[in-house]
Amino acid sequence: MQAADSAQRDEGLTALFEAARAVRARAHAPYSRFRVGAALRDERGAIHAGCNVENAAYPVGTCAEAGAIAAMIAGGGRRIAAILVCGDGAGLVTPCGACRQRIREFAGPDTPIHAAGPERVAKTFTLEELLPESFGPETLGD
Ligand code: THU
Repeated sequence: MQAADSAQRDEGLTALFEAARAVRARAHAPYSRFRVGAALRDERGAIHAGCNVENAAYPVGTCAEAGAIAAMIAGGGRRIAAILVCGDGAGLVTPCGACRQRIREFAGPDTPIHAAGPERVAKTFTLEELLPESFGPETLGD
Protein backbone atom coordinates (compact mmCIF):
# COMPACT_ATOMS: atom_id res chain seq x y z
CA MET A 1 0.00 0.00 0.00
CA GLN A 2 1.22 3.50 -0.87
CA ALA A 3 2.00 5.87 2.00
CA ALA A 4 -0.68 8.29 0.72
CA ASP A 5 -3.32 5.52 0.77
CA SER A 6 -2.39 4.57 4.27
CA ALA A 7 -2.45 8.19 5.48
CA GLN A 8 -5.89 8.63 3.90
CA ARG A 9 -7.11 5.42 5.55
CA ASP A 10 -5.88 6.55 8.96
CA GLU A 11 -7.49 9.95 8.46
CA GLY A 12 -10.76 8.24 7.55
CA LEU A 13 -10.59 6.05 10.64
CA THR A 14 -9.91 9.06 12.87
CA ALA A 15 -12.97 10.83 11.48
CA LEU A 16 -15.14 7.76 12.19
CA PHE A 17 -13.68 7.43 15.67
CA GLU A 18 -14.31 11.09 16.53
CA ALA A 19 -17.89 10.89 15.26
CA ALA A 20 -18.60 7.75 17.31
CA ARG A 21 -16.98 9.18 20.42
CA ALA A 22 -18.93 12.42 20.15
CA VAL A 23 -22.29 10.73 19.66
CA ARG A 24 -21.58 8.26 22.47
CA ALA A 25 -21.64 11.21 24.90
CA ARG A 26 -25.29 11.77 23.91
CA ALA A 27 -26.41 8.20 24.60
CA HIS A 28 -29.59 7.73 26.63
CA ALA A 29 -28.48 4.84 28.85
CA PRO A 30 -29.92 5.46 32.34
CA TYR A 31 -30.66 1.75 32.94
CA SER A 32 -27.48 -0.01 31.86
CA ARG A 33 -25.25 3.06 32.22
CA PHE A 34 -23.38 1.58 29.29
CA ARG A 35 -22.98 4.24 26.64
CA VAL A 36 -22.29 3.21 23.05
CA GLY A 37 -21.65 5.33 19.96
CA ALA A 38 -21.47 4.08 16.39
CA ALA A 39 -20.36 5.86 13.24
CA LEU A 40 -20.36 4.55 9.71
CA ARG A 41 -19.14 5.76 6.35
CA ASP A 42 -21.52 5.27 3.45
CA GLU A 43 -20.72 4.59 -0.21
CA ARG A 44 -20.47 8.34 -0.91
CA GLY A 45 -18.04 8.99 1.93
CA ALA A 46 -20.64 10.59 4.21
CA ILE A 47 -20.48 9.77 7.91
CA HIS A 48 -23.60 8.89 9.91
CA ALA A 49 -23.69 8.37 13.66
CA GLY A 50 -26.01 6.96 16.31
CA CYS A 51 -26.03 6.14 20.03
CA ASN A 52 -27.97 3.70 22.17
CA VAL A 53 -31.38 4.95 23.26
CA GLU A 54 -32.75 2.95 26.18
CA ASN A 55 -36.33 2.84 27.40
CA ALA A 56 -38.05 2.22 30.75
CA ALA A 57 -39.69 -0.70 28.93
CA TYR A 58 -36.27 -2.31 28.49
CA PRO A 59 -36.70 -4.33 25.26
CA VAL A 60 -37.81 -1.22 23.41
CA GLY A 61 -34.33 0.30 23.68
CA THR A 62 -32.22 0.54 20.55
CA CYS A 63 -28.52 0.00 19.90
CA ALA A 64 -26.08 2.61 18.63
CA GLU A 65 -25.57 0.71 15.36
CA ALA A 66 -29.31 0.74 14.67
CA GLY A 67 -29.31 4.52 15.11
CA ALA A 68 -26.35 4.99 12.77
CA ILE A 69 -27.96 2.79 10.11
CA ALA A 70 -31.27 4.65 10.42
CA ALA A 71 -29.39 7.95 10.00
CA MET A 72 -27.64 6.58 6.88
CA ILE A 73 -30.89 5.51 5.25
CA ALA A 74 -32.63 8.74 6.18
CA GLY A 75 -29.65 10.66 4.77
CA GLY A 76 -29.78 8.89 1.42
CA GLY A 77 -26.88 6.46 1.88
CA ARG A 78 -27.41 2.85 0.87
CA ARG A 79 -24.18 0.95 1.66
CA ILE A 80 -21.88 0.70 4.68
CA ALA A 81 -18.22 1.08 3.62
CA ALA A 82 -16.94 0.88 7.21
CA ILE A 83 -18.42 1.08 10.70
CA LEU A 84 -16.91 1.82 14.10
CA VAL A 85 -18.45 1.05 17.49
CA CYS A 86 -17.21 2.95 20.53
CA GLY A 87 -17.86 1.49 23.99
CA ASP A 88 -16.64 2.23 27.49
CA GLY A 89 -13.20 0.70 27.11
CA ALA A 90 -13.58 -1.91 29.87
CA GLY A 91 -13.75 -4.78 27.40
CA LEU A 92 -13.94 -5.15 23.67
CA VAL A 93 -17.34 -3.87 22.49
CA THR A 94 -18.35 -5.54 19.28
CA PRO A 95 -21.82 -5.28 17.72
CA CYS A 96 -24.42 -7.53 19.34
CA GLY A 97 -25.84 -10.39 17.28
CA ALA A 98 -28.87 -8.44 16.11
CA CYS A 99 -26.68 -5.51 15.04
CA ARG A 100 -24.35 -7.82 13.08
CA GLN A 101 -27.41 -8.82 11.08
CA ARG A 102 -28.48 -5.18 10.72
CA ILE A 103 -25.02 -4.32 9.35
CA ARG A 104 -25.15 -7.37 7.05
CA GLU A 105 -28.13 -5.90 5.21
CA PHE A 106 -25.99 -3.01 3.92
CA ALA A 107 -22.44 -4.39 3.89
CA GLY A 108 -20.27 -7.02 2.27
CA PRO A 109 -18.12 -9.80 3.75
CA ASP A 110 -14.98 -7.61 3.72
CA THR A 111 -16.56 -4.53 5.26
CA PRO A 112 -14.43 -3.42 8.24
CA ILE A 113 -16.03 -3.30 11.67
CA HIS A 114 -13.83 -1.39 14.11
CA ALA A 115 -14.22 -1.93 17.87
CA ALA A 116 -13.06 1.04 19.96
CA GLY A 117 -12.91 2.26 23.52
CA PRO A 118 -13.08 5.97 24.40
CA GLU A 119 -9.35 6.41 23.70
CA ARG A 120 -8.58 4.35 20.62
CA VAL A 121 -9.58 1.66 18.15
CA ALA A 122 -8.81 -1.66 19.84
CA LYS A 123 -9.45 -4.20 17.09
CA THR A 124 -10.76 -4.44 13.55
CA PHE A 125 -12.83 -7.30 12.16
CA THR A 126 -14.50 -7.98 8.85
CA LEU A 127 -18.22 -8.62 8.73
CA GLU A 128 -17.47 -12.18 7.59
CA GLU A 129 -15.45 -12.75 10.76
CA LEU A 130 -18.26 -11.58 13.02
CA LEU A 131 -21.13 -13.11 11.06
CA PRO A 132 -19.94 -16.09 8.99
CA GLU A 133 -22.25 -18.03 6.68
CA SER A 134 -24.78 -15.25 7.04
CA PHE A 135 -28.31 -14.85 5.78
CA GLY A 136 -28.82 -11.79 3.59
CA PRO A 137 -30.94 -10.16 0.91
CA GLU A 138 -29.51 -12.33 -1.87
CA THR A 139 -30.51 -15.47 0.04
CA LEU A 140 -34.10 -14.54 -0.69
CA GLY A 141 -33.42 -14.37 -4.44
CA ASP A 142 -35.27 -11.97 -6.71
N1 THU B 1 -25.49 -1.78 22.92
C1 THU B 1 -25.30 -1.12 21.75
O1 THU B 1 -25.71 0.04 21.59
N2 THU B 1 -24.66 -1.77 20.75
C2 THU B 1 -24.17 -3.04 20.85
O2 THU B 1 -23.75 -3.61 19.85
C3 THU B 1 -24.12 -3.69 22.16
C4 THU B 1 -25.07 -3.15 23.16
C5 THU B 1 -26.21 -1.09 24.00
C6 THU B 1 -27.60 -1.63 24.24
C7 THU B 1 -27.86 -1.22 25.66
O3 THU B 1 -28.37 0.10 25.66
C8 THU B 1 -26.47 -1.20 26.29
O4 THU B 1 -25.54 -1.22 25.23
C9 THU B 1 -26.20 -2.38 27.21
O5 THU B 1 -26.47 -3.59 26.56
